[in-house]
Amino acid sequence: MFFDTHAHYDDPRFDSDRHTLLPKIHADCVDLIVNSGESRKAVHAGVALAHQYPFLYTAVGIHPHYAKDMTEEDLELLRSTALTEDKVVAIGEIGLDYHYDNSPRRLQRYWFDEQLGLAEQLNLPVIIHSREAAQECFDMIAQSKVRQGVIHCYSGSVEMAKQYVEMGFYLGIGGVLTYNNAKKLVEVVQQIDLSRLVLETDCPYLAPVPCRGQRNDSSLLKYVAEKMAAIKGLSIEEIAAQTKQNGLDLFFGGKNPLS
Ligand code: NI
Repeated sequence: MFFDTHAHYDDPRFDSDRHTLLPKIHADCVDLIVNSGESRKAVHAGVALAHQYPFLYTAVGIHPHYAKDMTEEDLELLRSTALTEDKVVAIGEIGLDYHYDNSPRRLQRYWFDEQLGLAEQLNLPVIIHSREAAQECFDMIAQSKVRQGVIHCYSGSVEMAKQYVEMGFYLGIGGVLTYNNAKKLVEVVQQIDLSRLVLETDCPYLAPVPCRGQRNDSSLLKYVAEKMAAIKGLSIEEIAAQTKQNGLDLFFGGKNPLS
């Protein structure tokens, strides 16, 4: 039913039950999952999971948190993995995080730009992480030649959302939509056409209400879809079908790889 376009099933919080949880989620409610990369370790783990589960695909990228340790060798690892593993569907998650500032901003910008360049060379979509760096992140993307991808966990203004959509990007919408203080995001979902929105968990993080604070997983996407359905005046089934098609358009050229 759902397409979870952003998950972290390699996270240690899934170590105890990953291999019972994933088949159950797939049987119950989720047709496809894209696991997001964030580190060297996560790139290898994501590829291993993708080999194990036909319905799970993976992205490769180095998160801005780890920019301070990124090397040319890592960039080559991303390139060779994307070229040799056919279940790699995107470069990500990449971007800027000025909230935590775990890496110096100069290095975050440098490696973000390098990875945008890689996505362009490989003609792959990007998965963008942007936190408290909205304008700078937007400017760097606009200045690059990349025009396919998703702004994961979108948190910017309606105005910027429209500009991203105009450039060809999708907006990733997750648990935050269900939070009490999500006024701005509700407005974004109201204003942006459903054809440009995709659902995501970012699990194990950002569980939606009524499970906020607990470990998130793809089965909880129904709460995000429910909220989106209420905002758009549509049924959950309509939200599921359209956002799934958007994910297929974004990562698979419109075709379901499983059918
Ligand atoms: Ni993530």
